[in-house]
Amino acid sequence: MRCSVLKGVGGFLPARVLTNDDLSQTLETSDEWIRRRTGIRSRHIAADGVLTSDLAVEAALRALEKAEIRPEEVDLVLVATTTPDRTFPSTATIVQGKLGLAQGMAFDISAVCSGFLYATTVADTLLQQGQATCALVIGAETFSRLLDWSDRTTAPLFGDGAGAVLLRAEEQPSPTGILASRLYADGGQWSLLYTDGGPSLNQKAGVVRMQGREVFRQAVEKMVQSLQEVLQVASVPLEEITWVIPHQANLRILEAVAERMAMPMERVLVTVDHHANTSGASIPLALEEGFASGRLAAGQTLLLTAIGAGLTWGASIIRLP
Ligand SMILES: CC(C)(COP(=O)(O)OP(=O)(O)OC[C@H]1O[C@@H](n2cnc3c(N)ncnc32)[C@H](O)[C@@H]1OP(=O)(O)O)[C@@H](O)C(=O)NCCC(=O)NCCS
Repeated sequence: MRCSVLKGVGGFLPARVLTNDDLSQTLETSDEWIRRRTGIRSRHIAADGVLTSDLAVEAALRALEKAEIRPEEVDLVLVATTTPDRTFPSTATIVQGKLGLAQGMAFDISAVCSGFLYATTVADTLLQQGQATCALVIGAETFSRLLDWSDRTTAPLFGDGAGAVLLRAEEQPSPTGILASRLYADGGQWSLLYTDGGPSLNQKAGVVRMQGREVFRQAVEKMVQSLQEVLQVASVPLEEITWVIPHQANLRILEAVAERMAMPMERVLVTVDHHANTSGASIPLALEEGFASGRLAAGQTLLLTAIGAGLTWGASIIRLP
């Protein structure tokens, strides 16, 4: 059977680390408050002049190296981002150009914190249809550029970074790679989380505005719902899942999801403490850290879930080769 197999993962974080104590120098907040309410201790911030495409290229090169795949084999570049370099062209085409590639397709996916799951699902479909054979799927963000640094209710929550996966269409004797995905959106709820600017609205990028409490409530409910549905669709029992790899927004959200799924936190990959919320980059960055630390290994079955502005949300099951 033709499968979308995960061949390699790469991640890249900008060098500058901003701690909660650093933030409390300029905001009326404290390390204690941020850690207790979110689990976040620090986040990485891209230097001036470093663009989303720069982070994306670094993550992509690492994923290609891990996969032992030459860039020339890639015929699909997808970038999930909320912070594109420019309004146009897509960051994916800029990344494709920086990688020296000129074949196949390249486009961005806009689903905010669910963007990476949306992108892997689109890549899986194109690989299954035979429209592409080797996909570089990247989540990359310079989310710090969308923050109102005087707003203590949003500024501490986000960070910058990029993660990339290499998916290749391969004939396999048994189901491998992406086993199933489920994606959802409810546009009636866009005003829970948005930027107050846009090219059409006011020719600005804007900054994040959020109703935190309601987003929290929706996040727990919708992540659990999508996890249960994708398990059912794939006919995979929960006992077969080695790791849950959720979008990293708030440790308390992850704990609530784990509790409702009757999943011990020891089987949930957590990076939010040192990455904060890197939006579209958070799941591939967690995957990269999971491999680098030896927690992710061949033959394991992973359960991914995310929720983001829109609202958008979803879940996927991936079996590692
Ligand atoms: C944002 C979030 C951390 C706030 O935590 P909370 O427990 O819901 O706190 P509330 O918003 O009810 O605020 C409680 C109080 O803390 C204050 N507060 C908010 N941020 C603060 C900060 N950084 N430092 C100190 N106090 C803060 C509020 O002003 C409020 O004060 P008040 O009671 O005097 O009005 C939490 O709602 C959350 O994480 N939501 C989900 C956000 C998210 O993940 N978004 C991305 C999804 S992809």
